[in-house]
Amino acid sequence: MAGRVGIVGAGLVGAAAGYLLALTSGVREVVLTDIDTARAVSEAADIAHAAAFASTAQIGPGSYQDLAGADVVVITAGASLKPGQTRLDLLATNARIVSDIIERVLAVAPDTVLLFATNPVDVMPALAVRRFGVPPGRAIGTGCALDSARFRDRLARQFGVAPQSMHAYVLGEHGDSEVLHWSGVHVAGMKLAQFAEQLGAPLTPELQATIAKEVRTSAYRIKEGKGVSNFGIGGCIARLTQALVNGEQTVFTVSTVMDHVLGVPDTCISLPHLLGARGASAPMMPPLDEAETEALRHSAEVIREAIAVALA
Ligand code: 2OP
Repeated sequence: MAGRVGIVGAGLVGAAAGYLLALTSGVREVVLTDIDTARAVSEAADIAHAAAFASTAQIGPGSYQDLAGADVVVITAGASLKPGQTRLDLLATNARIVSDIIERVLAVAPDTVLLFATNPVDVMPALAVRRFGVPPGRAIGTGCALDSARFRDRLARQFGVAPQSMHAYVLGEHGDSEVLHWSGVHVAGMKLAQFAEQLGAPLTPELQATIAKEVRTSAYRIKEGKGVSNFGIGGCIARLTQALVNGEQTVFTVSTVMDHVLGVPDTCISLPHLLGARGASAPMMPPLDEAETEALRHSAEVIREAIAVALA
């Protein structure tokens, strides 16, 4: 890929993503698009000044026409989560906004990879696939890639290990029904419980419950203090985009449209995928224990219902 990335939505999430993308290897050009042109112009200028210290990437404001030739278009536009709301509360408003954006982007960049960060992120890929015929691998929700980073960060702090050495994933909905894949967590080639025993810091059910709650409610707690969560998702967008433009085939739990998963039809949940030059691979299903299987089936059902409402 040529390293050309578009961002639609220059709010706090789009700006954080743009800033981090400007510092990401393999990203050569970032085009920032917003209905508020003055905002896009100012954010792009501010980011370009920061990038001038550390990068040769070109950052600029642009119209939809300027997204032509983009390898990846990131969509962050729409209403953001307010304290007291769940991500699914944003469904009606954001599905309308994002449908319009998809149509405009595809008119100039029909082969681009669409990366959705607008909530509910697991519904937006279905709009692209079912309404506009985009292949499933080219309509990707950031999904639980961010939740997986939160899970790793929390475990890493608990056990004093670098997050990069903590192989842990969150699956399912990017939202309240998400599933922490405890049975699959590995460190140093062993299951987390064994690792914790060796450290002399056992992984008790109470500790697991505390960590699960903290990971699941991370965004809600961040919003209580600052009103928005933008750097986590900005970092997530930059890392996923890097994997796409550099053809890495790195594993992330993102959401793509699935005809069937665990007996649930027409859904779009986070499972491990490889991200590379052609977008996302087909999803992979890791071994799950019984409770995780049931929880993931429930999550798939939650998103199936939300997609049905959005497409009605
Ligand atoms: C987050 O998890 C709000 O979905 C956004 O930070």
